[in-house]
Amino acid sequence: MSPQTKSKQRVRDHGEVFTAEREVKAMCDLVHDECERIDSRFLEPACGNGNFLAEILSRKLATVKKLYKSNPYDYERYAVLAVTSIYGVEILADNAEECRKRLFDLWDMEYSAVCKKAANDETREAVRYILSKNILCGNALTLMCVDENQKDTDEPIVFPEWSLLGTKLKRRDFRLDIMLKVGDKPKAGQISIFEEEDDSKYLSVNPVTKELMAEPIREYPPVHYRKVQENG
Ligand SMILES: C[S@@+](CC[C@H](N)C(=O)[O-])C[C@H]1O[C@@H](n2cnc3c(N)ncnc32)[C@H](O)[C@@H]1O
Repeated sequence: MSPQTKSKQRVRDHGEVFTAEREVKAMCDLVHDECERIDSRFLEPACGNGNFLAEILSRKLATVKKLYKSNPYDYERYAVLAVTSIYGVEILADNAEECRKRLFDLWDMEYSAVCKKAANDETREAVRYILSKNILCGNALTLMCVDENQKDTDEPIVFPEWSLLGTKLKRRDFRLDIMLKVGDKPKAGQISIFEEEDDSKYLSVNPVTKELMAEPIREYPPVHYRKVQENG
């Protein structure tokens, strides 16, 4: 097997062929400004073990280092913010887990290298928690979470939106299917594109543009970024 595949069966069943580093870097270069912006949000719908997400996180952390390396408090806050902006969906549970671990290890090692000491346990737990909510095992075609046999469950894929307010993180959860539908910017009169009547409770209308907007399905009070796991 090449380093880009794990088994012929997995290639046949899931089209699992990982992208080589050279291509990953070349593609990220096409959107280098966004990759370097700490809070620009990226979602990879078939993220595998995280080749693209790891490259993007690494570029964001390079920006955090450039701007905040002389102040460990700011470095930590913005390094956590970088993690909150990275999202993935992957149908195979082992890949999703590998991806979370890889992003965590990258974050943790970079922290130790820049701050010349390990991050404290609470912050590391917060980063692990954020990754557990941002990298999900699901089907990017049906937009549903899947079980260990890659079968759809009845849980839609839900992602948190994280916003940094000083040292606090505000979390609002959104359904991915609703966000993708309003991403096409339908106007209020086109509400019939939503087959499920129930979906309309997650929608509102922008009073100025009349465009439909996704509403959160859940909101959490802002908490210190080291304590996000206590909210969940
Ligand atoms: C061609 S690989 C690419 C992986 C990664 N994006 C990369 O470039 O290295 C496609 C990945 O999508 C996953 N996959 C296949 N069908 C999927 C689906 N319906 N929803 C989510 N992930 C899926 C596979 O398990 C595999 O890891």
